[in-house]
Amino acid sequence: MDTLRLAAGGPETVRIASAILQNGGLVALPTETVYGLGGNGLDPAAVRKIFEAKGRPQDNPLILHVASASELDGLCHSISVAARELARRFWPGPLTMVLPCRESIPRETTAGLDTVAVRCPACDVTREIIRAAGVPVAAPSANRSGKPSTTTAAHVLHDMDGRINAVVDGGPCRVGVESTIVDLSGGVPRLLRPGGVTPEQLREVLGELEIDQAVTAQPAGDAVVRAPGMKYKHYAPQGQVLIVAGPAEKAAAYVRKRFQPGDAVLCFAEELSLYGGLAPTAYGSERDPESLAHGLFAALRALDRAEVKTIYARCPECGGVGYAVRNRLGKAAGFQIVTEDAL
Ligand code: TXA
Ligand code: MG
Repeated sequence: MDTLRLAAGGPETVRIASAILQNGGLVALPTETVYGLGGNGLDPAAVRKIFEAKGRPQDNPLILHVASASELDGLCHSISVAARELARRFWPGPLTMVLPCRESIPRETTAGLDTVAVRCPACDVTREIIRAAGVPVAAPSANRSGKPSTTTAAHVLHDMDGRINAVVDGGPCRVGVESTIVDLSGGVPRLLRPGGVTPEQLREVLGELEIDQAVTAQPAGDAVVRAPGMKYKHYAPQGQVLIVAGPAEKAAAYVRKRFQPGDAVLCFAEELSLYGGLAPTAYGSERDPESLAHGLFAALRALDRAEVKTIYARCPECGGVGYAVRNRLGKAAGFQIVTEDAL
């Protein structure tokens, strides 16, 4: 199949992309977090195509993308006051809510769960396409399963050219890491995946928020996890990622002692000079966690070469979106961290 490239600003883009969705095809769509691989979320055949194109395990449910919060009631029930307040504050934006789902949602989309994940993305052209298609759009991140998420149309094409009908090029994604997922389907609200909306912001609305254990550690192979996707080794480039914590100079000395030809260093812009001669890659500034989130996946992709054995990575300690960066790097590393006392 030929994959069409559509410019986000092109006059025909909304018409073509929404027609593909209505006809059961797949379109990669820009969002403020990462690119999504969109299909009609109410059409089991389209949803099966998404899984095929990604090479995604069938037990990993998809997020439904809507054009506005008014669509929630058609997809979910038992929507709490808190959930409505979260939608009011953070939508359109990088927040996904897990809620009890209506029976009309195909089990292909929910992987058989009785809940569904819903999000309203903050990208005008994508919301226009969803509105024009007239259906909720199921969209996982538009990467091959196990690869870092895609934050540019070029990355999408690298993974998906020939596998999907079209990609809408909206430029680089602003946030750069996937949305925050919060489970509001009953009991105490639970953070399943950190993202652009921070735990601090969620607590302002929810008061209580539990942090799922999959956020900070790799679940055991047989563990029952609340967000099925969290049990897979995600965001993983070919090399083994090893997080080196602690003060900049000590960490650099540790890496310099072990670095082998072909290894790679992923660090903060402020630390580049400490790794002279090792061709380090900076993914943002330590003082600016938004820049780290924005640059992380592009940097991991740039380092995703077969010959890289070890990627020594520096990881932010701060809160805010830094917490999401720490989670993604932790997952890429299988939560292998060299802590300060080992330096
Ligand atoms: O920012 C994002 O959320 C991006 C863009 C495209 O919107 N999408 C995204 O989708 O990251 P995906 O499929 O790569 O990750 C969705 C995660 C998976 O870990 C999945 O297991 C979880 O959401 N999920 C989906 N439905 C769920 C449900 N009903 N209950 C718990 N977790 C769910
Ligand atoms: Mg994904």
